[in-house]
Amino acid sequence: MAGGKFITFEGPEGAGKSTQLQLCAAFLRARNIPVVTTREPGGTPLAEQLRTILKTHRGGEKLHPETELLLMEAARSQHAREVILPALERGETVLCDRYYDSTTAYQGGARNIDPELIAGLNAFAAGFRKPDLTFLLDLPVESGFVRAGKRSSTAGEYDRFEAENRAFHEHVRQSFLAIAAAEPERFRVISAEGTPEEVFDSIRECLNELFD
Ligand code: TMP
Repeated sequence: MAGGKFITFEGPEGAGKSTQLQLCAAFLRARNIPVVTTREPGGTPLAEQLRTILKTHRGGEKLHPETELLLMEAARSQHAREVILPALERGETVLCDRYYDSTTAYQGGARNIDPELIAGLNAFAAGFRKPDLTFLLDLPVESGFVRAGKRSSTAGEYDRFEAENRAFHEHVRQSFLAIAAAEPERFRVISAEGTPEEVFDSIRECLNELFD
């Protein structure tokens, strides 16, 4: 395959995506593979501003699901063109903490927006470049709540998504599992319940396959 590899990390709240992404980056760099790490929503100054709105907007004016979807896609189109696509062109491997499958799961599954509309917007915002490999770190909602709760108590408060109820997060989880089942060649579903080292053991095996 020409260019670098594009690897994304998906999953519900508290699944440990960021930790696994960092372990993955260290593993690949030790093999002299050039790696760019980034995240969504965010990854550029403009997209990070949209992230702040998306995660922390409160009170007065309601942030409608449709607006939320378009802000996610606006952040993505900026991020794809500024960071992801140029890095892949340069032959670097891009590791991204969440990507468009999160839109399908959160705005599609949990907020109930038309999946066909979302699929079109996802492809458009991403510049029609699909991830080569996507790790879905799967975790029961209850365990994710416990982990995210620990993080929030140090950070001060829950963000807009973490504050959603259990049914919302159950929808997110089931949507992710359905997306993964529909694209088995792209997805690796990994149980996120073990220690970070145990979870990374499974990820390492998949990386060895991709970079053999
Ligand atoms: P996180 O990066 O800390 O997980 O926070 C990002 C939040 O944004 C998370 O709750 C999932 C949500 N999200 C969406 O709803 N749609 C998207 O397309 C993306 C990338 C994230």
